[in-house]
Amino acid sequence: MFFNTFFTRTKTTVNGNGHQNGNGHQNGDGHQNGDGHQNGDGHQNGDGRQNGNGRHNGDAHNPTHLIDLHNVVKAYRTPVGDFIALNSLDLQIDRGEFVAVVGKSGSGKSTLINMITGIDRPTSGSIYVGDQAIHHLGEGPMAVWRGKTVGVIFQFFQLLPMLSCLENVMLPMDFGNMYAPKERKERALHLLDQVEMADHAFKLPSEVSGGQQQRVAIARALANDPPILAADEPTGNLDSKTADSVFTLFTDLVAQGKTILMVTHDNELARRVSRTITIADGEIVEEESR
Ligand SMILES: Nc1ncnc2c1ncn2[C@@H]1O[C@H](COP(=O)(O)OP(=O)(O)OP(=O)(O)O)[C@@H](O)[C@H]1O
Ligand SMILES: [Mg+2]
Repeated sequence: MFFNTFFTRTKTTVNGNGHQNGNGHQNGDGHQNGDGHQNGDGHQNGDGRQNGNGRHNGDAHNPTHLIDLHNVVKAYRTPVGDFIALNSLDLQIDRGEFVAVVGKSGSGKSTLINMITGIDRPTSGSIYVGDQAIHHLGEGPMAVWRGKTVGVIFQFFQLLPMLSCLENVMLPMDFGNMYAPKERKERALHLLDQVEMADHAFKLPSEVSGGQQQRVAIARALANDPPILAADEPTGNLDSKTADSVFTLFTDLVAQGKTILMVTHDNELARRVSRTITIADGEIVEEESR
């Protein structure tokens, strides 16, 4: 499978133009990208505006979609050559959508989520969230952007074990310097209440169940009130009843206006969202809206 893909795709170069991206490295046409630099072609937006960081956007992007991926390629460097994990992928997601991403193991689901959350970067192509071109952001601005824009939820919760549930939820507010310090505790308690975990606020994560830890992780993802939640197999480690209650929580959040992108292996859950996209070999091979 790996070698098939590898050998059939080696003609596709690392990023389509064979040049580097990342922080402060040069792009294909001789311009720099990354932090504080110009992007690929140095053009302004269609309307002549600069983007949020004062940099010029690379193409005439029209932010009608909340999330807009265009021609995204992700190539992982491996000892035997480049492995194309996302292959010229286009995807648009609108505000208020609840999108499930399904596909076999190794198909590229986590890679896709990591592109949209800015946890990882595309080799080539563009990713806009609102009017922010995140493929241009360097590490520091990316972390700031992510803290405000995307709440990330993982399969294994990833709460800090030495902090109480309450402190875990307060942490993103502290990092992002969001909300006045004296408001943070009250806000975290309110969020824990929303996920029915207020009674456990002062316990350590190890002192609550897996489903309860995931509820805390969801409260943490909501800490800075991001418009988007990105969840990579959030119910993968939960029994079906607990998974169902976490899913219900997500549907409530969508009803409140959040946009949710959820990777899942659970076909039953995937059928209950507004759109399901199926990925195979780094490409979207099927889409179903309901
Ligand atoms: N850092 C990396 N270096 C090399 N190859 C990688 C790396 N990360 C992922 N891959 C490869 O890219 C492909 C897509 O991986 P990804 O983690 O996105 O799959 P997935 O669909 O999330 O799978 P799963 O359902 O098992 O979580 C896989 O073939 C994987 O082996
Ligand atoms: Mg994965």
